[in-house]
Amino acid sequence: MASIPFELRGKSVYVAGHRGMVGRAIERRLAHEQVNLLTVSRNEVDLRDQAAVNAWFAAKRPQVVFLAAAKVGGIVANNTLRAEFLHENLAISGNVIQAAYANRCEKLMFFGSSCIYPRLAPQPLREESLLTGPLEPTNEPYAIAKIAGIKMSEAYRIQYGADFISVMPANLYGPGDNYHPEYSHVFAALIRRFHEAKRSGASNVVVWGTGTPRREFLYVDDLADACIHLMKTYSSPEPVNIGTGEDLSIADLALMVAAAVGFRGEISFDTSRPDGTPRKLLDVSRLSSLGWRATTSLTEGIQLAYRAFCAERDGRLRSDLLVLDKAACITG
Ligand SMILES: NC(=O)c1ccc[n+]([C@@H]2O[C@H](COP(=O)([O-])OP(=O)(O)OC[C@H]3O[C@@H](n4cnc5c(N)ncnc54)[C@H](OP(=O)(O)O)[C@@H]3O)[C@@H](O)[C@H]2O)c1
Repeated sequence: MASIPFELRGKSVYVAGHRGMVGRAIERRLAHEQVNLLTVSRNEVDLRDQAAVNAWFAAKRPQVVFLAAAKVGGIVANNTLRAEFLHENLAISGNVIQAAYANRCEKLMFFGSSCIYPRLAPQPLREESLLTGPLEPTNEPYAIAKIAGIKMSEAYRIQYGADFISVMPANLYGPGDNYHPEYSHVFAALIRRFHEAKRSGASNVVVWGTGTPRREFLYVDDLADACIHLMKTYSSPEPVNIGTGEDLSIADLALMVAAAVGFRGEISFDTSRPDGTPRKLLDVSRLSSLGWRATTSLTEGIQLAYRAFCAERDGRLRSDLLVLDKAACITG
């Protein structure tokens, strides 16, 4: 097991999922750490392919792994693509964790999520609540796969002495988010909907669900900073929650996003759409005791995220995002 503090400088560090929102933020943060960054595209190594993953690890032998690759999506994607979410996330976790161990990786970080705690676990959610009750039905396949990844990291630590740790991020937002009209998370969906409504002059924006569920949102660059901090300072089997420790209702979030985008019309709620878990607020006392706290306020983060949304449209957008009019962006 590596000692604490764990030295990142000079190490070869593999960020799995480097084109995703989290992977990109970790890359940005690692630029300050003097590491030898390793990445590989899905075209070269599909992480569901065990033989390809083993061959790549044997050739590159990364010393440190951030396992931020996963099949990720909002409530509709999770509820619709149930087989894909279960199979792909199990395969990615199993292949990468085993290959990291087999190739003597010194340290690995696995990404869980606040949405894999039991649906009605006491709030704020403590790490000890994992596996203490039934899961939210809409994302049960994703949660089962993610819990398996956490338990794999724990088992490799206990049986083999591998320094594998797990983190549980809150809902994330920021540069590199997925703005798919059906499959995105709520934050990205709101940015896109309010932006398009403002651009088209629509008088009303419909928000899915009742607006009453409460959620916690963490700016993705804060997450990346916490991950580097934990990689250096944490080495235990229990996962660590990463969040702000503050939540708000979806209705209040919608008001804040509308204000940042400059949409001045009405907001209504489509109650035929599912709400998901009623509340998801993380207890961040373990993280605080390890010496880290979030620094980006939600107001500031929304402005940064909207600015990134506008910039990303200019050619670097994911193919599923419609081409939008740059002139319609007001970043405040
Ligand atoms: N987003 C959130 O709000 C949130 C909250 C809590 C936890 N997390 C966790 O954070 C991690 C990263 O999430 P994210 O939001 O960054 O997701 P994301 O933006 O969808 O990125 C996922 C990344 O994984 C890669 N990937 C997926 N399947 C792959 C495969 N078969 N082979 C190779 N690469 C593959 C994707 O590659 P392509 O670019 O080629 O598609 C992409 O780069 C996940 O483990 C997620 O559970 C996210």
